[in-house]
Amino acid sequence: MEIIDNINTNWARRIIVTGGAGFIGSHLVRRLVQRYPNYLIINLDALTYCGNPANVADVADLPNYRFHRADITDYEAVAAIIKQYNVDGIIHLAAESHVDRSISDPFIFAKTNVLGTLTLLQAAKDWWSASPDGFSGKRFHHVSTDEVFGALPLDRPELMFSETTPYAPHSPYSASKASSDHFVRAFVDTYGFPAVITNCSNNYGPYQFPEKLIPLFINNIVERRPLPVYGQGLNVRDWLYVGDHVAAIDLVFHQAANGASYNIGGFNQWSNIDLVRALIAEVDRQINRPDGADLDLITFVKDRAGHDMRYAIDSSRISRELGWKPSLDFEEGLRITVQWYLSHKEWMDEITSGAYREYYDKMYKNR
Ligand code: NAD
Ligand code: DAU
Repeated sequence: MEIIDNINTNWARRIIVTGGAGFIGSHLVRRLVQRYPNYLIINLDALTYCGNPANVADVADLPNYRFHRADITDYEAVAAIIKQYNVDGIIHLAAESHVDRSISDPFIFAKTNVLGTLTLLQAAKDWWSASPDGFSGKRFHHVSTDEVFGALPLDRPELMFSETTPYAPHSPYSASKASSDHFVRAFVDTYGFPAVITNCSNNYGPYQFPEKLIPLFINNIVERRPLPVYGQGLNVRDWLYVGDHVAAIDLVFHQAANGASYNIGGFNQWSNIDLVRALIAEVDRQINRPDGADLDLITFVKDRAGHDMRYAIDSSRISRELGWKPSLDFEEGLRITVQWYLSHKEWMDEITSGAYREYYDKMYKNR
């Protein structure tokens, strides 16, 4: 094993966050660099269409932050970064994450989510198993989704996804995430690899790419554009504020037993149509339009193919075993979220105009 640069021995931990320029990853990076100044946090992100350096601009100059533009499917690149910092932790969020895109182009989902995860697992295993203390003190945290469990019926409200619910993915996105979870478990079972998995419900909050329901619709309401509700809007999602999700990841990363998995969710189910009405009410309130002024924007459109009817996470295990619970109720979370998008119009405009891509292509061209 080669000698690692001394500089790395000064950090209590050296952790790669993959996908740290995306929505949830940027919140996690921000939390970790601020909360653990003695940790080195390495943001590894390919900056695909939804990765945006602006999402972490406020922490980019902190001494314990590094950024590497790299593709998780590139073994050599990933292995070199793991080695350069003698990484002892990986929190893996990089993914293709949008269900609609997976329906029109499933291959990139298999490549990034399945092969990318396998590449990371293999690179970490190769480096860690060759280190003097092997897997001891190492951790690979795989961030996954509740969609791996399939869909629940509307007429059985008592049913929820628990950690033992059998996998039954429907969309190419959830099939790819389920497959990546299986590879993580296979590494645990086969090699004793030090991994944990979390499966979370729908997140919302600042910095979410505006292809997802909440930021897309906030922007459309402001701009008085139609709100395309799929089908009849009866599908139910279980919404959690992104800050509560990354707090749970922090806890699981540090405290969970190897091989464990935890479901994360807010016990907060909303039908899409009720959520859209609540969103309209909140946006209108904040921009001083009369109550209900934008309800006419609701436009029912062709349903998403294979649209999962209901997701609902039972997160009692993480509460019971690790003491986690959501800190924000939905009303407050929605208020903060709407306020953030309204006061960060330039962030939204840079994305919708495509300007953010020129910025990072210039900035990171040679990395
Ligand atoms: P996102 O789409 O906002 O960000 C994904 C990030 O991954 C981007 O920064 C992108 O540049 C990066 N990336 C994509 N392909 C890459 C590659 N080949 N190599 C390196 N980086 C690459 O995603 P998100 O919504 O923040 O989701 C993050 C993770 O959390 C995903 O694994 C997703 O499955 C999971 N998750 C998301 C939600 C949710 O509601 N958004 C809920 C549960 C779980
Ligand atoms: O459950 C966790 C998952 O939540 C994550 O794993 C995914 O990465 C994340 O994208 C999210 O998936 P959804 O498909 O539930 O999220 P989305 O924001 O795309 O859609 C939320 C609901 O709103 C869903 O039922 C589809 C519907 N919808 C969505 C869009 C974009 C519409 O009715 N109209 C729209 O334009």
